Amino acid sequence: MFPSFSRRQLLQASALAAPALTCTGLSLDAHGAETPRIEAPLVDSLSIQVVTDATHDIFISGAQVPGMRVDRARGFRGAMERRALRSEHGLSLYLTSQKGSETRRFLLDFGWTAEALNNNLELLGLDVAALDALIVSHGHLDHTGGLDGFLDKHRAAMREDLRLYLGGEDAFCYRHSAAGNGAFVSYGVLDRRMLSAARVRPMLSEDPLVIEGHAFTTGAVPRTSLERVLPNSFVEFGQRDGAGCNVAGYANNHFTPAELAGQPVPDQHLHEHATCFHVKDRGLVVITSCGHAGIINTVRRAQQVTGVQKVYALVGGFHLAMASTDYLNRVMAELKTLDIQHVFPMHCSGTNFLEAAKREMPQALVLCTTGSRFTFGA
Ligand SMILES: [Fe+2]
Repeated sequence: MFPSFSRRQLLQASALAAPALTCTGLSLDAHGAETPRIEAPLVDSLSIQVVTDATHDIFISGAQVPGMRVDRARGFRGAMERRALRSEHGLSLYLTSQKGSETRRFLLDFGWTAEALNNNLELLGLDVAALDALIVSHGHLDHTGGLDGFLDKHRAAMREDLRLYLGGEDAFCYRHSAAGNGAFVSYGVLDRRMLSAARVRPMLSEDPLVIEGHAFTTGAVPRTSLERVLPNSFVEFGQRDGAGCNVAGYANNHFTPAELAGQPVPDQHLHEHATCFHVKDRGLVVITSCGHAGIINTVRRAQQVTGVQKVYALVGGFHLAMASTDYLNRVMAELKTLDIQHVFPMHCSGTNFLEAAKREMPQALVLCTTGSRFTFGA
């Protein structure tokens, strides 16, 4: 069930997203699978604004980090009206990149609720109308839940040809949570009809894509390291009631009869992708969002598709909160070999990861909270 990569995938991605795809060829990875290659655009600077995360700590430390500017949201508009930044189990990042005089803005993921997202976008003074593209990392409610309410409020002011980039068909599957005794409760579904009604064009690709000439996605992440997908939701393959994912939309299609019959199975997030930038004089910035595919796997994928080995920053949810101590220690040991300058654990990374990072890589660890902004480069 793990993704492998084929020429068919490349062709599928090209057909679906030809305007944005910049692919320079194929190479073989360590397992002999074809790895699509892209030319990663070089940007002069990148700003990562945390719009929604699990907590807002106005006293969080680490304001001075060598090599970057850190802005913490301590005072902001709305204070006199008793309004505050909202935090929840979910993630949303507003990304601004600069290349010469050219600026690009992206909203990556939409948190659990539009109430938190729209509130925080307003209080942080972020320019929603200027967004160039939207990106969803994977089809989990804590990353897609705020999308419909966000579009309800802001779509009319945004560019006419708005695109939403996704790692593949898997983002549209019904998700479920286990409720015990074999029963499930709904964990939502990202509905294409909602996107269509909002005139948002979904751009699906299992292969890496360059977006708006500044960002790039990794495409589906091969599982090549010691990491495995830790327990999370259950996924239902297939379509019903006008929503769901089309199994024919998977390039690597090996579904069991039970899966084809709609039986929920442990979620492997086959089409989770990371959003990345190549920042001048620094290296790659890899944003995992939830990291179900594994943070080592994801960093390696970003390196392989670009040919750029230097990783400047690893950002996002690392999904290690429920990892055993042994598993966490092995991931940490592997992470240290990658020589990443800055590590930004957010969202589902886990207090266990934070404690391990404080111990094992204190110089790299940057503490994150709702409202923080990190700027690399000029
Ligand atoms: Fe998540």
